[in-house]
Parts: sequence; structure tokens; C-alpha cells
Amino acid sequence: MCLGRIWAGTIFDVYRLVMSKSRRPNGPSLDELIEETIQAGELELPVFPASAREVIKLCEMGETTHVDAKRLSDVIRRDASLAGHFLAVANSAVFSGGRAPLVSLQQALTRLGMTQTKQIAMVVVCKTKAFVIPNRPERAAEILAHALNTALYAQEIARTRRLNVEEAFLAGLLHDIGVPAVYHVIADLSKKHGPFDEEEVERVSAQFHERVGGMIADKWTMPESVRSVIASHHITLDAASPNTTAIVQLADALAHGTTNIAEHPAMGILNLYAEELTRLTDKVGVAA
Ligand SMILES: [Fe+2]
Ligand SMILES: [Fe+2]
Repeated sequence: MCLGRIWAGTIFDVYRLVMSKSRRPNGPSLDELIEETIQAGELELPVFPASAREVIKLCEMGETTHVDAKRLSDVIRRDASLAGHFLAVANSAVFSGGRAPLVSLQQALTRLGMTQTKQIAMVVVCKTKAFVIPNRPERAAEILAHALNTALYAQEIARTRRLNVEEAFLAGLLHDIGVPAVYHVIADLSKKHGPFDEEEVERVSAQFHERVGGMIADKWTMPESVRSVIASHHITLDAASPNTTAIVQLADALAHGTTNIAEHPAMGILNLYAEELTRLTDKVGVAA
């Protein structure tokens, strides 16, 4: 399914920025330097921790067979970073649902289902490994907040349309995972080439983030449906998973606070009515 046109708004602004390529006065442009880094296989991509992978695998097993909380908590405790952030994320507004704070890992794992445990493990990986930008902690926090909001909207849209809720959450959470990685490479390049103009940094991160995100998704062996959304969520809706792409595009626009949302092409693709959208945005507004 091909949309054949670019939706005006956020997407248009991003690509207008991308087209305005600028050259450094005495050498290659930032685009060219990043391209060289990619071609040379020197791009540093975040590592998916083995402990989080094991937690996710156990949760998947636990959806069909019994996996006890003790076994899961043992795996989480072996990784200080995962253990240290797990409870904080579980007690955040997004996951607590207004309930009393969880005080121990064991209690958390007993109360949370396998799906939420998996989601929390993914959020911790994003927070501690992927959405980290040297010298730009505020920007990293902003990108993580946007990722979480997009994931929540995506999950609710999928629930409303009776589509795959878990896949929508994951694709929403990871859709911009390439952005921090591009900032990372720019930080490395600036050590050698000097600081880059801020506008150029924004333009280039918009330009490369889908491609670099796709490389991370490959490295992390994400499902193809999620990888294709990460690698191509700004223009086309003719990817391997058009429904998930449409969900993430709409969720992304909602997370950006776009006002003319009822005109978004994904509304038609997903057969969503304005009233359904209002209902689900109210629901996410309470959780976020
Ligand atoms: Fe994006
Ligand atoms: Fe986004």
C-alpha cells in the first residue's frame, strides 16, 4: 500500500530540514563524514544486554508455561543496571496505573504480568543503553520521553483497532532509536573535526536516524515487523507491516502534539474515527 504523498506537518518539516544540506567551509560535510563512518563499518551501535534478553525470553516462555518470579528476579539481580532501574520504571506513572508503589523486585514481578515485565525491561534497556547521548543528557531524556509517549499512543491505537498491542508498543518505543546513535557518532566526529552547527546536527540526525535505527534493530534481532517501522516510519506506508507503520506514524504525531491529527492519512488506513481517537488520547493523557 503506497500513500503516494507526504503528510504535511512534522514529517514535512523533518524532510525540509534534510534537504537543506550544507558543506563545511574546509572539508567534507557532516553527511559525508557520517556516510564514511557507516561505509567503513565504524559506527558504534548500542549493545542489547544479555540479561535483558534473558528476561524477555523467560517472559515469552511464561506466556504459555509457568515461570516463577524468583527465577526472573535472579536474572534481573545479576545485572546491576537492570536491577537498579527496574523498580523505578515499574513505579513510574506510565506503568504504576496509580497503584501503591512497589517496594521489592519480587513484589513487582508477582504483581506485573509477563507483558509488562517485558516492556519494563525494554524501557530500561532504552534508558540505560540506547537513549544515551554524550554531553546531551537533556536531549536524551527528551527523546526517551517522546519514545515512551509514542509507545503508549501506539499501544492504545492497536488496542482500539484490535491489532497487535505488544508489537505496536515496541515499534513506538524504538521508532527513533537511531537518533541518539547519530548524536553519538556526531560527538565522536566533533572530537576530530571540531564542533558542528546545531542546525546541521538536527538536520543530519533527522536524515540518518531511520537508517541507523534499522542497523540497531538488525543488531538487536528485532522482529521484521518492528525493524521495518524503525527503518522507514517517516514517508512510506508500504513497508512490510503497513498497519504498524500507520500506528506509529499516528502515535508519533500525537506524541508531538500535532493539532490537525484528524487529517492524518493513517486515520484512513487504520479506519479510525475522530471519536475513537479522542477516547484513546484521553486514556493515554491520564497514563502519561
Ligand atoms: Fe523518526
Ligand atoms: Fe518520533
